Amino acid sequence: MISIKALAESPGLTSIPPKYTFTRSPNDEAVSDDPEESIPIIDFFLLTSGTPDQRSKTIHQLGKACQDWGFFMVINHGVPESLMKAMTDVCGEFFNLTEEEKREYGGKHVLDSIRCGTSINASVDKVLFWRDFVKFFVHPQFHSPSKPAAFREISLEYSKRSRELAMELLKGISMSLELGDTYIQNALNMESGLQILIANLYPPCPEPELAIGLPPHSDHGLLTLLIQNEISGLQVQHQSKWVNVNSTPNAFVVNIGDQMEIMSNGKYKSVVHRAFVNEKATRISMATIIGPPLDSVVGPAREFVHRENNAPAYTGMKYKEYMHLQQSHQIDAKSCLDHV
Ligand code: SIN
Ligand code: FE2
Repeated sequence: MISIKALAESPGLTSIPPKYTFTRSPNDEAVSDDPEESIPIIDFFLLTSGTPDQRSKTIHQLGKACQDWGFFMVINHGVPESLMKAMTDVCGEFFNLTEEEKREYGGKHVLDSIRCGTSINASVDKVLFWRDFVKFFVHPQFHSPSKPAAFREISLEYSKRSRELAMELLKGISMSLELGDTYIQNALNMESGLQILIANLYPPCPEPELAIGLPPHSDHGLLTLLIQNEISGLQVQHQSKWVNVNSTPNAFVVNIGDQMEIMSNGKYKSVVHRAFVNEKATRISMATIIGPPLDSVVGPAREFVHRENNAPAYTGMKYKEYMHLQQSHQIDAKSCLDHV
């Protein structure tokens, strides 16, 4: 299959092929008209190294962000800006490889440890997405494409640093649920947890209003950490409207995934988001999905359900099966959670 980059670069392309036309339903198009409305900001330094009072305030803010938005921006996180830039730059270089070089990574199965493609599942997606991706599993075993030359080294360092950040955020989230700080780490055996890096390339598109980079979906893991180049394109659903998330250099955009919704018995909900494309600029993003081990069955945390006097809202499902379910069907917002 041809990459979107190659398609976008075809000489004289002025319109998109019909199978890339994404039908938007009018009631799904309300975009927040308040330019000030944006996802909450969490100061990581205060969360981990502040005074006891600052830490407890930040844990409270984190819990509120998870409950009200399911999305937040993390600043003062300690991951070097140079590493974040090196990561997005080398992703751009990856997509500059020849079609033949990229084809080497053209895996077929959603659980393949390295996989390149465009749509999530081209055989079931009725509409194809205007993006190229390369996805690779970096934990518990590290896999990575070996080209371009620096790709492996930068991805290894980036995956370690982003994982450390994610683990601290999981501690904060555990505390915000009034579970002990290591509750999620221990209950879900995060030592063997899955971590996936997904690099996305959204080439310029001659008809950006007709195409979609990524259609509305939620993420399957516990948490997703996103970095991006200077081009914006992410929108988050909030109170029945779409809110733009501007690309902010040096910040991580973090969101709650489906496994966290299950674990928290629906208190923290995974949130539907989508990615836009534009006519002129190439957008690059890199998502890090942090999940439990592939063979773990994630269900609502017993202690939590018991304390809140709730009935479990999900029966639970093996993470591997959930991923397979989500990625082998046409993406339809959060519909996969109905099966858990
Ligand atoms: C994603 O949803 O995984 C990526 C979204 C983006 O590129 O902003
Ligand atoms: Fe996503």
